[in-house]
Amino acid sequence: MKRYWTTVLAYSKNVATTGALFETSKLVVKEMTHLVTPHQAQVIIELGAGHGNITEGILQKMHPDSILLAFELHSEFCDELKARISDRRLHVINDSADKIKSYLAKHQLQHADVVISALPLVVIPNEVVDSILQQTKDVLQNKGHYLQVSYSLIIQKKLKSFFGKVNKKMVLLNAPPAVVYTCQAQ
Ligand SMILES: C[S@@+](CC[C@H](N)C(=O)[O-])C[C@H]1O[C@@H](n2cnc3c(N)ncnc32)[C@H](O)[C@@H]1O
Repeated sequence: MKRYWTTVLAYSKNVATTGALFETSKLVVKEMTHLVTPHQAQVIIELGAGHGNITEGILQKMHPDSILLAFELHSEFCDELKARISDRRLHVINDSADKIKSYLAKHQLQHADVVISALPLVVIPNEVVDSILQQTKDVLQNKGHYLQVSYSLIIQKKLKSFFGKVNKKMVLLNAPPAVVYTCQAQ
């Protein structure tokens, strides 16, 4: 419970960039990690790791040989994540999500299988969102999936302009109700 309130406080203090007041709920984490599999090694990218609810959900499900690159803009959130989670498969990257390609190359990886994002796309400048979505599409190489949680439907048109296939799942029991988009380039 203490961690819940610590996160609420930290997200509220940085609401202009977190775009949220509350940590991601278990229901949303379940939807966001449904394509993470323990049965095969995957390259997984997380965008906007925050205090790590989704990060933990991914780590619990992923294969021992999978790798997780988790981007987070705020250094204090990264420090919190690194102090709390010790897992050799996790690489916390204190940088903007529009550097996906450069960090993938730094880790000598050519592509990603799944990109999981809790980025507040509605508050990020349009040109940065376009760069993030284009790089996501490029690294997925038409085969992988991009999952995006949102608390409004505003971003749907933007996602459709980048990805051929966009499925929408409403998580109505969440407060506030959330939408999880699963996108594929095709
Ligand atoms: C809704 S919060 C994250 C929720 C978190 N994933 C969870 O499970 O509770 C969104 C996060 O995106 C981060 N963020 C915002 N813009 C970013 C960017 N351009 N690159 C990386 N992270 C960013 C914020 O600092 C914030 O921690």
